[in-house]
Amino acid sequence: ADEPLVLGIETSCDETGIGVVRGHTLLADAVASSVEEHARFGGVVPEVASRAHLEAMVPTIERACEESGIKLSDVDAIAVTAGPGLAGALLVGVAAAKALALGLDKPIYGVNHLASHVAVDQLQHGPLPEPCIAMLVSGGHSSLLKVTDITQGVDPMGATIDDAAGEAFDKVARLLGLGFPGGPVIDRTATSGSSIAIDFPRGLTTRRDLERHRFDFSFSGLKTAVARWIEAKERSGEAVPVADVAASFQEAVVDVLVRKALDAASSEGIEDIIIGGGVAANSRLRVLAEERATKLGIRVRVPRPGLCTDNGAMVAALGAEMVARGRTPSALDLPADSSQPI
Ligand code: KG4
Ligand code: ZN
Repeated sequence: ADEPLVLGIETSCDETGIGVVRGHTLLADAVASSVEEHARFGGVVPEVASRAHLEAMVPTIERACEESGIKLSDVDAIAVTAGPGLAGALLVGVAAAKALALGLDKPIYGVNHLASHVAVDQLQHGPLPEPCIAMLVSGGHSSLLKVTDITQGVDPMGATIDDAAGEAFDKVARLLGLGFPGGPVIDRTATSGSSIAIDFPRGLTTRRDLERHRFDFSFSGLKTAVARWIEAKERSGEAVPVADVAASFQEAVVDVLVRKALDAASSEGIEDIIIGGGVAANSRLRVLAEERATKLGIRVRVPRPGLCTDNGAMVAALGAEMVARGRTPSALDLPADSSQPI
């Protein structure tokens, strides 16, 4: 009768996310993160992540049920991230989803992680504009995607050829001694610096680069340029103007992201852009995207930061859309596919 009630499971990286949505309405978003267990290794350790998912799964499902006030038997479908992501981590989520689907006798939908990052915007801003351009920028991915029908997946237009945008923020924060994760602290530090103090390089924007990499990103050259700049400053015995470096670095990243997203939209004649992933929380990115898009008559939607990072609600949101549009469920033997195309 009314909108589909869907439970979503996300375990592609280091967050165990269980979300519950009814149609476009968010009912619960329970997340258990193993980020602190990885901190001493300086990055996500796949084996540690898998074990953490296993331990967090049942308690996080219970939390999501409490938060939403639903019983598991009420759900119309189970949705789960099938890929891309860490193979062992994905397997834990897919196994849990199969157990629930089998035990409850409900359909199961295996969904693409990047498509979920786009679909989550519906929980805040209502029905997704289709077609749209999606830009996903996080510690793990930096992609430009074309979305025609979100339940059919996403078409990659471009991606980073080296570091992800969030990775660049994290590495530069380390260079500046600002700690981890770097994005939020660079964002804050930059507010007291000048974005035009230092002219850092804009990756893959020369005419020649654009011929082959019009919608691709590169951030490792920028990171190196920042490192060299800091070294030169230190060698000359001068103090490093941390806020200026942060602001100028941030501007170099955000300038390219916005330029390429707008170019992708213009090239396809598309008037809506959705930005997601952890870096979408960046305050300068939000302002610059809005400012430049408005001039071109393009609309930009950015979900609130809590919905931008990995969570189960985004999986449930896409699952609910699958149900609403009458898509065929996955088979009960659906595989976890770590290399699933974006
Ligand atoms: O989506 P996310 O939580 O996890 C994955 O990487 O999948 O993204 C985390 C990344 C980190 O690299 C973090 O530094 C970055 O997003 N980030 C930001 C901001 N908040 C988080 N980057 C720039 N500005 C921010 N305000
Ligand atoms: Zn993600």
